[in-house]
Order: sequence, then structure tokens, then C-alpha cells
Amino acid sequence: MLDRSQTVARIVLDHSECAPIFQKNRIDYCCRGGVSLTEACASQGLDPDALATELERAIGARSGGDEADPRALSTAGLVGHIVSKHHQYLREAMPFLAPLSAKVRRVHGEHDGRLLELDDVVKALFAALEPHLDEEEQTLFPELTKRAPDRALVARELGAMQQEHLEVGALLGRMRAITADFTTPEWACNSYRTLFSELERLEGDVLRHVHLENHVLMPRFAEA
Ligand SMILES: [Fe+2]
Ligand SMILES: [Fe+2]
Repeated sequence: MLDRSQTVARIVLDHSECAPIFQKNRIDYCCRGGVSLTEACASQGLDPDALATELERAIGARSGGDEADPRALSTAGLVGHIVSKHHQYLREAMPFLAPLSAKVRRVHGEHDGRLLELDDVVKALFAALEPHLDEEEQTLFPELTKRAPDRALVARELGAMQQEHLEVGALLGRMRAITADFTTPEWACNSYRTLFSELERLEGDVLRHVHLENHVLMPRFAEA
């Protein structure tokens, strides 16, 4: 039985299989993960019994071969995992998705106005993410893995990181709202469908990524 007074961030830490269920139900377990399951349901107008049942089913169905618990990783190991898995993914996905979004906008924007807004949000999202990844890789992460990190620098960098995560989270929320949960019309072509499915995948990856930085990495340096 799931303890509904636990925070949604904590539920994802203990049961990573709950992340896609929160994603689908627009529950932000990253930047606003400090609320209980009960509170999160109330703010999203969701039935807590139905959601808890769905989460418990996912937890019960969890099969072996899952990723190791990131909390068990050293800081160097955790940072290495974030960069090689999540930063690398974005560095490949963004150059593919930016022109695809522009193309779908150009071809179908006249008939489907949400594609104009979506392309603007995609551009803003990538413009926020690119320097964010660079800053983490070039400044924050190397400092965190030093034997004696510079406390003032770490505090400043972590504060900025958290702010930028909020901005990214807000843009992801707009992306999901504009696309009505990434649903495509009957007439959508392959490019349109690919754009929507890949953006949903990107949302899921970024949520996991930010969750690791906010709830596993940052608490290790909270005193800084
Ligand atoms: Fe990152
Ligand atoms: Fe980050």
C-alpha cells in the first residue's frame, strides 16, 4: 500500500516506474515534487484512489533488470550518469527536433494554429536547455566532484540551476497543454506524429533528469 502522505518526489525515488504515470497525469515530481500524493491529486483535480491504484499496479508489476538506485551512486558516478545518459540524449534530440518542429509549423501551421505556439515553446525550451547543460558540465559538476568544493560557488550555481529547472518545467507544462497531452489529429502526417511522440519522450527524459539533479544530487550539497 502506497503511503499517500509521502511526497511525489520521494515516491519516484523509491519507485521509478511511477514517473511516467505522474508525467501522464501532469504531476510535476521534479521542481514541485515536495507535495504529498494527496495534495498533488487535489491540485490536479485527480481522484486519489484511482491514481494510487494505478501507481500500486505499476509498482507490483515492476520486473527485474531495472536501473540501479541512483541514490547508491557516488557523486562522480551520479554526475557521470546524468551527463552520459540525459545530457547526451538532449544533445542528440534537440538538433533533430528543432528543425522538425519548424517544418511541421511551416507545413501545417496555417490549418492548426497550436503548431505555431508549440514551435515557439520548443525554441524557448531548447534555448534554455543548451546553456544550462553547458553550465552544469563546465562549472557546476566539476566543482561538485572536487575533494573540497568551493562552497560559495556551489551555492550560487545550485541556486541558478534550480531557477533554470523551474523555467524548463514551466515550458514543459506549456508543451503538454498546447498539444493536449500530445494527441495528434486524424490527418496528421508522419512528421507531425513523430514530432509529438518524440516531444513526449523528451518531456519524460527531462523530468527524470531534473528529478535526479533536484532530489538526488542537490541534497548532498544542501548545506552549501
Ligand atoms: Fe543536467
Ligand atoms: Fe539541470
